[in-house]
Amino acid sequence: MTDLTMRVEARRPLTEQICEFTLAPLDGAELPTFEPGAHVTIETPSKAMRRYSLINDGSAPEVYKIAVKREPESRGGSASMHDEATVGTELRVEPPENDFPMGEANEYLLIAGGIGVTPIYSMAQQLDREGKPFNIIYCTRSPEDTAYLDEMRAAFGDRLLVHHDEGDPEKVYDFWDHFEEPKNMHVYCCGPAPLMEEIEAISGHWPEGRVNFEDFKPVDVVREDDKAFDVVLEKSGKRVTVPEDRSILEALRDAGVATVSSCESGTCGTCKTRLLSGEVDHRDMVLMDEEKSENIMICVSRAKEGELVLDL
Ligand code: FES
Repeated sequence: MTDLTMRVEARRPLTEQICEFTLAPLDGAELPTFEPGAHVTIETPSKAMRRYSLINDGSAPEVYKIAVKREPESRGGSASMHDEATVGTELRVEPPENDFPMGEANEYLLIAGGIGVTPIYSMAQQLDREGKPFNIIYCTRSPEDTAYLDEMRAAFGDRLLVHHDEGDPEKVYDFWDHFEEPKNMHVYCCGPAPLMEEIEAISGHWPEGRVNFEDFKPVDVVREDDKAFDVVLEKSGKRVTVPEDRSILEALRDAGVATVSSCESGTCGTCKTRLLSGEVDHRDMVLMDEEKSENIMICVSRAKEGELVLDL
């Protein structure tokens, strides 16, 4: 399916750090449908590709709704959505995909941490429409940090349990009672890594397929202490400087070099590029050790020192 061009139709601040965006297709074009748990990949104004879960009903959508958290260290994707994707801005959007689909079950437990509420809210609305039994546990730092709090309370009443930990590890929600006995239900969990790791650890004795995770996380593609370096493109003879706050992929794109990418988080393998020389700080999850001397995933990895020569 081809990419969509969508326009920011509305923005709604949900918390100080989280903003909801309503995206409408240009010329009222028909939008692909989607199921709860689906996400779209958006080319943000900074040209970084980012994945966001869809929140609204996807059975006959006229718009797509997403919520974006400004990540504290973000110098790219989420910050540019907040700062530059104003009403009227046009964005390239890849059609919905779903790596976190809901299965058929007698009962559901939905667990959200922070901005991980987006697919969970979408699932809860669908289960509510279908009249299926479910409960939600929604963990955040404080009421002020809790997106959709009032509307979820109004919609789901006592099926929603909200827990605030004030950022104190001593006060995190204790999920053990829910997992001690394996139950005939499906669990869907989306949130920060520590929350998902905890649920994974305490649900190891549950039958396979009952406990499900949304495993994409905002990736720290660029780190605080990263430095600028040059890449030399052997075939085209170009030299491109990769600034300290951009990935190689982004710098190449900025320089008008055609690139291919998908996840932009070092997990899919699409951006694999042949490395001719240079010392690489490999940050991906794809390359085997024996591949690392001759390949680099340019969406996340950088030069350790000096320049890199790529077969481009
Ligand atoms: S784009 Fe997926 S690994 Fe680089």
